[in-house]
Amino acid sequence: MGYNLGILISGNGSNMLNIIEASKKKIIKSKIATVISNNPRALGIKEASKKGIDVKIINQNKYSNIDDFENSLSQYLLKKRVNLICLAGFMKVLSKDFVKKWKNKIINIHPSLLPSFKGLNTHDRAIRQGVKFSGCTVHFVNEKLDSGKIIDQEIVKVLKSDNVYSLQKKILMKEHKLYIRVLKSLEMKNGKI
Ligand code: GAR
Repeated sequence: MGYNLGILISGNGSNMLNIIEASKKKIIKSKIATVISNNPRALGIKEASKKGIDVKIINQNKYSNIDDFENSLSQYLLKKRVNLICLAGFMKVLSKDFVKKWKNKIINIHPSLLPSFKGLNTHDRAIRQGVKFSGCTVHFVNEKLDSGKIIDQEIVKVLKSDNVYSLQKKILMKEHKLYIRVLKSLEMKNGKI
């Protein structure tokens, strides 16, 4: 069964656009209820609106505290009847309260093979450590950063010639494939448990 997706972004939104495409082409059953950005300058916002998707900017800098910001976020997601939140380059850590409220309903894509390289600057750290393989992970979001249950991963080989830019590019291509595969598998289970 398809979901009503709420996609949260902060930047370019290539994963978000890829999910929109997959939904339009019926590769996945889910529909995009809304795309929300916490960053008013996120490039992805324009692209999503061009595709006729509902777009909302909820800028945390306009709120005096995290609770108000997250309440606004929750209210909008509820208003749009979102039942699965997809973090796609959303660079704000969500609070324990928010995660509790949306328990098992938030998934995130992270550009490393978790549990390695949680947090930021993953590609730089992977190259410095000399890892031979890296990749990306989609996981459920829990109260600890990048630590929720892993749903699926994609692997890439790290070549001697790779730099941060080339590795990021290779992994991003895998991310697009992975996010769709995960959504398809969750859709298969949805309603059956
Ligand atoms: C992606 O590489 C995603 O894995 C990463 O941000 C990029 C967003 O690209 N997310 C994180 O680092 C979250 N901690 P996109 O905006 O083009 O989808």
